[in-house]
Amino acid sequence: MPRPLRLGVNIDHVATVRNARGGRHPDPVRAALAAIAAGADGITAHLREDRRHIRDDDMARLKAEIGKPLNFEMAATPDMVRIALATKPHAACLVPERREEVTTEGGLDVVGQRESLAPFIARLGDAGVRVSLFIAADPAQIEMAATLKAPVIEIHTGAWCDAVADGEDAKAQHEWQRIVAGVALATAAGLEVHAGHGLDYATAETIAALPDVVELNIGFYMIGEALFVGLPDTVHRMRTSMDRGRASIVSG
Ligand code: PXP
Repeated sequence: MPRPLRLGVNIDHVATVRNARGGRHPDPVRAALAAIAAGADGITAHLREDRRHIRDDDMARLKAEIGKPLNFEMAATPDMVRIALATKPHAACLVPERREEVTTEGGLDVVGQRESLAPFIARLGDAGVRVSLFIAADPAQIEMAATLKAPVIEIHTGAWCDAVADGEDAKAQHEWQRIVAGVALATAAGLEVHAGHGLDYATAETIAALPDVVELNIGFYMIGEALFVGLPDTVHRMRTSMDRGRASIVSG
């Protein structure tokens, strides 16, 4: 039997809509509870330094109310580590952050930043928070993640998903092969492998066929789909896609 594949639903963009009017509606915690009721295995939220979507009180309420693992996405800064240690989420995913970007554009440079990252990984780990490093499927980055003793990496699937969406078949194939090789390398190095960014029903189904990927974190596409079919239906459809991909491992 293949290992189970967890679905983490990223609810950041519920907060994006809420913040457009500055009030309390729609509430990202309500979305998190609805996603969990529909079968999500956990909730991901990114407390950005500019607080453009999720805010500090959202994180505190998510931790208090969801009753499922909370994956706290954050930049590797002293301030964010302090907030994460106070929040005590199940997991912390360290991501690169640039104020001018519209979304997390690339992976974390763990090779270049190894000295500054090491103490953050250790402090979060000592506090019982499962640390994940959001990186490109690049062998040097994967090897450094293992050297730094992060238990988990999340492979950035954005370049692959963009190429698939744009119909750039050669690029999509190239990016896919990098992901396949990266998952194998990370697994051999003892890392738990997650994946995320830009995934939709089709790409989630494809990546679900990699048996060593054990968690997908998906946000933007699902929140967009929820406008049309509702969040519970979106979660069901995503789970069905992931299950179909996972089942293809057995059926070949
Ligand atoms: N995983 C990480 C580490 C991310 O930064 C994001 C985007 O916030 C996601 C997953 C979800 O990406 P998307 O919203 O494109 O599904």
